[in-house]
Amino acid sequence: MKPVDLTTRLAGLTLKNPVMTASGTYGFGEEYAAFYDPSRLGAITVKGITPLPRRGNPAPRVVETPSGMLNAVGLENPGLDEFLTTYLPRLEKLKTPVIVNISGFSLDDYALMAAALPEDSCIAAVEVNISCPNIKQGGLAFGTDPKSAEAVLSATRKNTKLPLIAKLSPNVTDIVTLAKAVENGGADIISLINTLLGMRIDIKTRKPVLGNIMGGLSGPAVLPVAVRMVYQVYQAVRLPIIGMGGISTWQDAVEFMLAGASAVSVGTANFVNPLAPLEIIDGLAEYCRQNGFTAVREIVGLAHR
Ligand SMILES: Cc1cc2nc3c(=O)[nH]c(=O)nc-3n(C[C@H](O)[C@H](O)[C@H](O)COP(=O)(O)O)c2cc1C
Repeated sequence: MKPVDLTTRLAGLTLKNPVMTASGTYGFGEEYAAFYDPSRLGAITVKGITPLPRRGNPAPRVVETPSGMLNAVGLENPGLDEFLTTYLPRLEKLKTPVIVNISGFSLDDYALMAAALPEDSCIAAVEVNISCPNIKQGGLAFGTDPKSAEAVLSATRKNTKLPLIAKLSPNVTDIVTLAKAVENGGADIISLINTLLGMRIDIKTRKPVLGNIMGGLSGPAVLPVAVRMVYQVYQAVRLPIIGMGGISTWQDAVEFMLAGASAVSVGTANFVNPLAPLEIIDGLAEYCRQNGFTAVREIVGLAHR
């Protein structure tokens, strides 16, 4: 029997399979290397970087919720210079396409980082995070206003030839408006969703649990919201989509691809089952085999027929 063709195309990018890891849940690529060789994944996405190092928000920064988790890490990261000099050479050794997630507080921040990321390295694409709910200025503000979202993409587009992924926030009334805005701004690919704004209160202390009060909800609890948004964006925009939000099994990944995702990203599930991405790759192949598809690309968007 011929093996199922698992390759997927995202604008100019061809990946050996459609399964990648979501920013902030896979460190800088080495954290999971003891479990499996990261080069088995279609690509890895590293923790969001900002121009200067950040210590993030005060603890507690993570709390479990029904079928999910809330985090308010607040973009703790080593900063652009340290990323380029220390982390990038180590990522190069992993032999995996790397997606670098960038966040900023101004258009200049995004433009500066886009310009600084080398175009001839393991960096396969830049993911522009306009959707982080855990930082006070910037972040979510860029991702909820269509004009600002378009401006961030234009500013990064001018400064790099690398494929640009616009990462959208679900904390909006109309996801399609935002998707069209980033398409106008020059995005090549859209990834969605980032986390949903939420909070919990400790009934003993009667205080918010997280040091930052509010945080981003992720995990299985957000899956139906994410599937809905992928479905809506697929209908409205021609750009390829990376779907994420609560994916922990191959069945979840199939659902996202049927909704219109050309690739999927595994986030919170990595914390629960580090082998989840590999199980999803195998499960996707088996689903195609059992249902008569010779290539996984054939299932993208089938729920729209
Ligand atoms: C602890 C944690 C840190 C995250 N950090 C980032 C980040 O730096 N940049 C970003 O764009 N998204 C970040 N995210 C969002 C994830 O990449 C993903 O979009 C979201 O968690 C939904 O997917 P999931 O339900 O599979 O986790 C983070 C999520 C978690 C749980």
